[in-house]
Amino acid sequence: MSCCIVLGAQWGDEGKGKIVDLLSAEAEVVVRFQGGANAGHTIYPDGRKVVLHLVPSGILRQGCVAVIGNGCVVDIVELAEEIAALRNMGWSVSPDNLVLSPGAHLVTAMHRALDGVEGGKIGTTGRGIGPTYADKSRRVGIRIESLLDGSFPERFQALASRYRAQLHELTGEVPPDFVVPTEAVEVVRPFVRDARQLILDAARGGRNVLYEGAQGTLLDVDHGTWPFVTSSTTTIGGALSGAGVWVDFTARIGVVKAYTTRVGHGPFPTELHDEVGAALQERGKEFGATTGRPRRCGWLDLPLLRYAIDVNGLDRIALTKLDVLGGVDPIRVAVGRYDNGDPVYEDLPGWAEDITAVQRFADLPTACRDYVGFLEEQLGIPAAIVSTGAHRDHTLVRSSVW
Ligand code: IMP
Repeated sequence: MSCCIVLGAQWGDEGKGKIVDLLSAEAEVVVRFQGGANAGHTIYPDGRKVVLHLVPSGILRQGCVAVIGNGCVVDIVELAEEIAALRNMGWSVSPDNLVLSPGAHLVTAMHRALDGVEGGKIGTTGRGIGPTYADKSRRVGIRIESLLDGSFPERFQALASRYRAQLHELTGEVPPDFVVPTEAVEVVRPFVRDARQLILDAARGGRNVLYEGAQGTLLDVDHGTWPFVTSSTTTIGGALSGAGVWVDFTARIGVVKAYTTRVGHGPFPTELHDEVGAALQERGKEFGATTGRPRRCGWLDLPLLRYAIDVNGLDRIALTKLDVLGGVDPIRVAVGRYDNGDPVYEDLPGWAEDITAVQRFADLPTACRDYVGFLEEQLGIPAAIVSTGAHRDHTLVRSSVW
């Protein structure tokens, strides 16, 4: 059996969607285990752009079942819209290829409203993620299973009165009436089934199972730059609790962008405030897939990557957006920290060529190969996949993952 996991090694937006899409060609099950519609995976499966927030990208592969695990938080209105959008583009979405765990928690308009009031402090995506996970821990939330037993409307109303009181207290304004999203309930209900058993059967049956992380290691609620984090376990432990099945991952892939970005507030030691940062933002199209916010840009930070390797047991990396560094010379990389916490940089030579069309790693410019080699040597793990552009065929697979 092969169980592969793809995790963000930085602050999210590393390009996980593309890597998961690539690996899902050989996967029979693709599992999301944490987060919700705060994630945004942009993929170009047939040249056309598809942005997925909740649905695992395995949905775009025939014969692959996409699973939303119990560790996720699901906005059913958003999910219904995503299903409709995929169908409109001609993709098949049915209970045969999309499964939603009854144990996942529901994100509703009231959670989004509270996030809108409270989330500004740290710059959340405003998708109701924090309040929903808080309700899960406070044991007042609503689980997807309530769509099956008919208890959803009553639970929704009970929670709505709590939220209306809280929002009133916080804002001094009359809160909106929160309305049960009945249409979305009907769309989503057929997809609810025992996800845990499905994953267990697939893993025990020796089928290829791919775990798709959302956000990144440094946004993990425990191991990230708290409190500037998301509210879920984005690291490897979240994969076990968020799917409910013990698996021994045969490949643990950290997706690493060739430079660093972050959206929202919080520390960013290698951040650039100059024209190089602006150029990376523009060339890398560094604007959030979920919120459209510009991403802060900076140099690659190896101490943070070493930390991500330790937290997750990463055994290889997938290096993305290498093409965006073209024309940047020299390229700086943080290799350590001074006693005061400032990054220690090393300068590496850049390259001027456009590398997007290169089909073999050996054909990349020498400076580009040396950059990859430097990272591998510094991190002690190989760059198994190198991505040189947004599209499926802009990918150099150097060693098989499955
Ligand atoms: P939340 O997940 O919406 O609560 O936001 C908490 C923090 O995580 C904010 O800094 C967000 O910008 C960040 N965040 C959440 N999801 C993503 C993502 O998919 N990519 C990058 N940052 C994210």
